[in-house]
Parts: sequence; structure tokens; C-alpha cells
Amino acid sequence: MIDIVISPDAPSAAAHVAGILHEAIRQHPAAVIGVATGSTPSPVYRALATRLTPEDVRGVSAFALDEYVGLPREHPESYHSVVFREVTRPLGLDARRVRVPDGQASDLAAAAEEYENAIVTAGGVDIQLLGIGTNGHIGFNEPGSAVTSRTRAVRLAAQTRADNARFFDTPGEVPTHALTQGIGTILDARRIVLLALGPGKAHIVSRALHGPMTAELPATALRTHPACTVVLDRAAAAALPGRGWGRSA
Ligand code: GLP
Repeated sequence: MIDIVISPDAPSAAAHVAGILHEAIRQHPAAVIGVATGSTPSPVYRALATRLTPEDVRGVSAFALDEYVGLPREHPESYHSVVFREVTRPLGLDARRVRVPDGQASDLAAAAEEYENAIVTAGGVDIQLLGIGTNGHIGFNEPGSAVTSRTRAVRLAAQTRADNARFFDTPGEVPTHALTQGIGTILDARRIVLLALGPGKAHIVSRALHGPMTAELPATALRTHPACTVVLDRAAAAALPGRGWGRSA
């Protein structure tokens, strides 16, 4: 079941998602939140940072979706760096409670298994924030990923490397592989909130919500989740059939 919320613009969509996360944290001070990277969630974290007090986040833990393989942690575009810069520090989280997959592990399969175990040990993810790739990926689960997939090393699609080249000095610097939570891992979250903004996401959002369910479009798997909310700005909602039937916020 997917609940769709269409906000008038990107700032209000991000504020809506920040409100959902804030409420989840207020209701559950030991909340385990799943955090996404990419440009889409950045305004959510900024909005959330203005609402949370140190008291609110004292017991909060966070798990990132994914990490590039082979990129040093200190690299400004490693997801270790991005999560620290955009989530841990501004939200005032205890860094010891924030986990990002170890993309530099010599044994990636062991690191993936350890990450799965850490999520389970933490009690599972209460609320998972997601973006969506232009090819329909969630996390770094590229087209073809099984709905039952767990945390593992994956090869990045050419489209994803091209999309993410904007974060690097040259396209050749974009890593070729990543360690990502699987679709099955993501679906285990008790609640999921996907945010998509802008006209560049309109087509894939429409296919994800209304096209055939297929592993070729990983985000279609979200339609099997019992508590998934998709928050869009008007531009990202523009290609939905019968546009306007979603709940507005
Ligand atoms: C990245 C991340 C995803 C993210 C997606 C979209 O590569 N691995 O978690 O949702 O691509 O990114 P953006 O929000 O910048 O469009």
C-alpha cells in the first residue's frame, strides 16, 4: 500500500518529510532511522535539524543505505563523509550510533553480513528515508536486483555513474561498485518514506507507482510494503496518470 502526498514545491515536500521523521522520533525516542544520500534528502535533513533538540536525538540510531566500494572514508563524496556532514553533525546524533556500510572492507561479503546483523541487533529500522535513481534504483539496487536481495556488493549501472558524476571532479572518478542494503533489507523497515523532487524524476516515479511490477524497476517493490509513503513535489508528480488524485499537502 502506497500513500502518495503531493506538495506544491520542493521545500514544502522536504518539510513534509522532515515532519514525518520528527514525529517518528518524538514518538519513539530510541528510533532507528534509515538514511539516504543523494541530493534529494539534503533539504529534509536541514529542515529536521532546525526542529530537533539534543534531548530528542539522544537515543536515536541511524543506518545508511549504501556506500561506494573502494572510496576512502575521508573522500568528501564517500557516504561516510556525506552522512556525517548532512546527518550526524547537523542533527546532533551520537556518531557511535550512526552506521554506514564498510566499502573499504577487504571481505565485502563479510562486511555486508555484519551490516545486516547490526540492523537486526538494533531492533530493525523504524523509518527508512529513500530517494529514487533515474533508472528506478533504491539504495544502489540497480535494475535486475531481486526483491529478496540483502546487503551485498553490486556493480553500478552506467546511468547511475553518469548521474553521480556531478559529485566528482571527473566521471572516471565515480566508483564502479557499491555496498548496498538489498531490496529485502529495505522492505524490512517498519515504515518507508520515499521523496522525489523535480521534473527529472517524473517519468520514473510514474512507472514506479503505476507501471508493471518488475525487478527491472526496483522501486516497484515498494508497492508490496504495508506502510510506504511517497512524497512528491508537483514537478515529480507531473507524469502520474489522472494527476491530482493523490493526497495534497
Ligand atoms: C544515489 C543513492 C540513492 C539515491 C539516488 C538518487 O546514487 N545511492 O540512495 O536515492 O542515487 O539521488 P538524487 O537524490 O541525487 O537524485
